[in-house]
Amino acid sequence: MARQRCSWLWISSLSVMAVSIGLAADDQTPKPATRKIDFVKDVQPIFEAKCLSCHGAKKQESAYRLDHKPSALRGGDIGRAIVPGKSGESPLIRYVAGLDPDIKMPPEGDRLTAEQVAVLRAWIDQGAEWPESASVELKSKGTDHWAFKAPVRPRVPTVRPMADGRKPMAVIPNPQTPIDQFILDRLQREGLTLSPETDRVTWLRRVSLDLIGLPPTIEEVDAFVADNSPDAFDKQVERLLASPHYGERWARHWLDAARYADSDGFEKDKSRQMWFYRDWVVNALNRDLGYDQFLTEQLAGDLLPNTTQDQIVATGFLRNSMLNEEGGVDPEQFRMDAMFDRMEAVGKAMLGLTIQCAQCHDHKFDPLTQRDYYRLFAFLNNDHEAQSVVYSEAERMQIADLRGEINDIEEELRKATPDWQQRLAEWEVSGTALAGIIHGGSNSR
Ligand code: HEC
Ligand code: HEC
Repeated sequence: MARQRCSWLWISSLSVMAVSIGLAADDQTPKPATRKIDFVKDVQPIFEAKCLSCHGAKKQESAYRLDHKPSALRGGDIGRAIVPGKSGESPLIRYVAGLDPDIKMPPEGDRLTAEQVAVLRAWIDQGAEWPESASVELKSKGTDHWAFKAPVRPRVPTVRPMADGRKPMAVIPNPQTPIDQFILDRLQREGLTLSPETDRVTWLRRVSLDLIGLPPTIEEVDAFVADNSPDAFDKQVERLLASPHYGERWARHWLDAARYADSDGFEKDKSRQMWFYRDWVVNALNRDLGYDQFLTEQLAGDLLPNTTQDQIVATGFLRNSMLNEEGGVDPEQFRMDAMFDRMEAVGKAMLGLTIQCAQCHDHKFDPLTQRDYYRLFAFLNNDHEAQSVVYSEAERMQIADLRGEINDIEEELRKATPDWQQRLAEWEVSGTALAGIIHGGSNSR
């Protein structure tokens, strides 16, 4: 290591010598420091020949690129590399001139000539001018993908009169909502008309299957058919939304995304107790928990202030990975597999993105770097795997009862022996004396 550093120093002093020789030998062209440097003619060819293989379109070592003006001026992972007007303060110059003890650019292959370094130096001192036309345009990667679009409330379309002259909404039976206007608008644009209104029995069956995943009972159908009130339909929808089956039916989708399972997967496929988490999701839907809170508790419920058992259970989202307990497995390998799986679940369920590609390199299509991937990874990888023990409502009551009983017994004991502190002190003294005897005895042996 030390020897390598020496040789670099040697090369760099050699290149300092070369600067003066090079400049002295060539009287025709004015010294870079005095003539006006042209980015396209003088600088860009150096970048192209010596730098872009690692800092260009294909590869961005240290998240740095020299073909895109804003990125080049902004700097990469290490920081700002070019300070316009001040070559002496620009790390890029230190790197290419071999003046930095740790970083030389390019790190392999031929170094820049003294002339090239002088050009870069002068270019920066003259303000690092860089015409926009000489910068690649970065397509903002992936921003067209729906996963990157914030949801916005759309404008409700105005619907044209029907072909037969009727007012558009007149064809929609009650109750009506703005959603009907979207449907009508689309039907009109497709040249379609509404299907005839369905009968009540079919309607109730459809809406029941939609909302709770179960068909209506005969009694429910009869009651609905006989209900002549104007809000008969509303009442059915409210009844179904209030049903505990509502959460069961809709939790299934989220539980799929959360890779919920009641067993470990892999060879032994032992059963595991995860139903507390399943019930949490079902209940979250039934109590209409806001989506932001729904996500927060599943990602970090254990870190919330005054966290409740329920919020810890919510983090079961992160704990649904398969578990390999085969003999001879490397536990760390499978812990890592579980970490990758956890990241994948966060990506798919919460970001609406597959992020696994960034596990090994920057994502090729989406604006997601490998660095971002492992920064998120680090949040989830800062603790040893622990199993949380949680209790059912009945068990919690039993625990509270037992604690109460223990308190009562302790209280009674305190009352029965009000001098317990004094007696304890005496006992301690006698204990010390006893220990002294034993100690002394062993000493004399
Ligand atoms: C063979 C690949 C390669 C080539 C060619 C190369 N670099 Fe680098 N460059 C790297 C690597 C790797 C790093 C990260 C260095 C480190 O972390 O020690 C880096 C880092 C840098 C940085 C720091 C960026 C930051 O803020 O993180 C600058 C500036 C830089 N290079 C400039 C150049 C210039 C100028 C050239 C051409 C003269 C060049 N590099 C050629 C691989 C290369
Ligand atoms: C387990 C690691 C790993 C994962 C995960 C991974 N890649 Fe790669 N990928 C590599 C490696 C290593 C290379 C370089 C191969 C080579 O030497 O050419 C590569 C190269 C590529 C290339 C060609 C290189 C280039 O820059 O043109 C593309 C495209 C690519 N990967 C896309 C993807 C996509 C898309 C995904 C996610 C679906 C993905 N990769 C996931 C390791 C991985």
